[in-house]
Amino acid sequence: MKKILAVLLVAMLALSALCVASAEAKTYKVGVSIYQFTDNFMTLYRNELESYMKSLETDDMKFDITIQDAKNDMAEQTNQVRTFITQGMDVIILNLVQTSSADAVIDEIVAAGIPLVLINREPLGDDGDYSYAGILDNPEVCYVGADARQSGTYQGEMVCELENHGDINGDGKISYIMIEGDPENVDAQYRTEFSVKALTDAGYEVECLDDQVGNWDQTKGQELCANALTNYGDAIEVVFCNNDGMALGAATAIATAGRTVGEDIYLLGVDALDECVEMVKNGEMTGTVLNDHIGQSHAAVDAAIKLLKGEEIENYYIVDYVKVDKAYVDAQ
Ligand code: GAL
Repeated sequence: MKKILAVLLVAMLALSALCVASAEAKTYKVGVSIYQFTDNFMTLYRNELESYMKSLETDDMKFDITIQDAKNDMAEQTNQVRTFITQGMDVIILNLVQTSSADAVIDEIVAAGIPLVLINREPLGDDGDYSYAGILDNPEVCYVGADARQSGTYQGEMVCELENHGDINGDGKISYIMIEGDPENVDAQYRTEFSVKALTDAGYEVECLDDQVGNWDQTKGQELCANALTNYGDAIEVVFCNNDGMALGAATAIATAGRTVGEDIYLLGVDALDECVEMVKNGEMTGTVLNDHIGQSHAAVDAAIKLLKGEEIENYYIVDYVKVDKAYVDAQ
């Protein structure tokens, strides 16, 4: 009898241990590396990514999220990725410092058998093609971003839609300066190209007075715009900035030079940072383009969770930009 009771007890204990185990949540380790924490747009993006992922936790699925600052240094980011691999991350979310280093980094992560979600900076394959084969051929790798051609086109269209279509002095051409983001980044390349293309496609003549690299940075944007205003003065009719960070800097330079947006100069950015939307509303900026950090971060997290669950994903998730001019802001 005693023996039977002892066996029963052991069986019951084992059963309850099993029950506890199955009710226990699995915590997934998520490694995120962002190219640079000081970037305005990527700060909004990473904060939303973290809070959205946390909001999706369930009784049996928890997330232990580590977010690293790659400090705009590819060697630093490679080290972070290698540490993620040794730490046994269950999924990696990567905002590349250098898109041209994509092959090497992606290969290491894929070889370690860790699913990968690339965000914001579309990797460039060795063949110079943005449709990187390492993504297309891999069921556990995807890219979440936006088509920067669209944002550039919207910037140009907002100039075309102005009554004088940007030709303030009526000399028959739109004289502009371009303040570019990181030139290695497809967003900078496409925005630079397509903003101007929208003008020429509409049949307007253009004149580029200055084209400089501001690396997405506000202080640099201010400095470059101030220099251009000193060198070209009233000849500058339109200031195209590849992002709002640099446009904020340009706005300061424009005010310091005694110029007035909407009257004797036009200013365009991309991202639709809150302060820039406010400036579009007040007329201090001609327009910006919503770079949907909410839509993009959610798509990235949704894809990461699918990968954790072993569900099928798509290789590319592309989120639309939205044109943010005064009419749009007033209608909100
Ligand atoms: C762009 C964004 C910029 C900057 C850049 C970083 O999409 O417009 O502000 O964040 O990404 O790669």
